[in-house]
Amino acid sequence: MQVNKAVIPAAGFGTRFLPVTKAQPKEMMPVLDKPTIQYVVEEAVSSGIDDVLIITGRGKQAIEAHFDKSYELEEELKNAGKTDRLDRVREIADLVDIHYVRQKERNGLGDAVLYARKHVGDEPFALLLGDTIIESEMPCTRELVQYAEEYEESVLSLERVPWERVESYGVAEVGGDVDSEPCFPVEDFVEKPPREEAPSNLAITGRYVLTPEIFDLLEETEKGVGGELQLTDAIRALSSVRGVELSGDRFDIGNIPDWLKANIEMALTHDDGEMNEAVRQIIQEQLNE
Ligand code: UTP
Repeated sequence: MQVNKAVIPAAGFGTRFLPVTKAQPKEMMPVLDKPTIQYVVEEAVSSGIDDVLIITGRGKQAIEAHFDKSYELEEELKNAGKTDRLDRVREIADLVDIHYVRQKERNGLGDAVLYARKHVGDEPFALLLGDTIIESEMPCTRELVQYAEEYEESVLSLERVPWERVESYGVAEVGGDVDSEPCFPVEDFVEKPPREEAPSNLAITGRYVLTPEIFDLLEETEKGVGGELQLTDAIRALSSVRGVELSGDRFDIGNIPDWLKANIEMALTHDDGEMNEAVRQIIQEQLNE
C-alpha cells in the first residue's frame, strides 16, 4: 500500500467566521503571512504527497488564484528587483500538482469527500481539512501515511481534548492500549457525546489516511446530523481503523479564538526573531495596561 494523493475539502460556508467569510473563503484566512490552506498543502507535500485535489465550491475562486502562476505580479517584482518576494510568489505556484473539483451543494464533509472518488480511484489517500493547521515536529500526515502503509488500514489522528469539551467532537472508542501502542485499534466513534457518555477524550482532528473502501460506505450512508452526509458515520462502518495520538498543536481556523491563537503562538514560535520580539512586546504592553 502506498499513499500518493491528498484530498483537501475547502467548500464549506464558514458561518462561524461571518461576516469575514461572506465573500472570501475561510481557508484563505491568513495566519501570519500565509493563507491557512497553504500550510495544509505544505504539510501534504512534506509528507511525500505529489498529487493534491482541493474540493472547492461557489465563492472559492481565490484558492485557485493563490496556487496559480501570476505573470503580471512576477513581472512587476522582477522589474522592481524584489527577488526575495519574487521567489516566494513563484514557490507557491511550484509547490505541487494541484487539481480541483467543485462540490455542487454544501451537503457536508462526507459529501465533499465523495467528490474525490473519480480522481482518487482505487487507492488509499490522505485527507486534510482545509481549515485546520497542525504544527508538529514530524508532519502529522507523514506519520499517518507511515502507519497506514505499515498496517494497510485507515489511520486517523486523534487529539486529547479537555473532558468538558468532548461534546463538540467525534470521539474514539479505543480498542487497544493507547499507552503502549503508538498506532492503536479504534473500535468505534461517537459523535458529540455528553461528557458522561464519552468513551474517551480522544477526538478526531482533521487529518486522516483512508482506504478507498470509504467511497462505497459514503454512497450507502444516510444523511445524518444537520441533514449533512457525515464522514464519521462512514468511518464507523470501515472494516478496521487505527488511531495515532496527535503530538503537535492543532488550530481550527474556522473559529475566531483559535485563529487568533494560531497567529500569536506561531508568531512567537517561528524563527523570525524580529516578529517574535514585536509580538512579545505587543502582548506585554496589553498586559501592563
Ligand atoms: P466545517 O465543519 O468547519 O464546516 O468544515 P463549514 O461549513 O466550513 O464551517 P461552519 O461550521 O459553517 O463555520 C470542515 C472542513 O470541511 C469543508 C470545509 O471547507 C472545511 O475545510 N467542508 C465542509 C466542505 O468541503 N464541504 C462541506 O459541505 C462542509
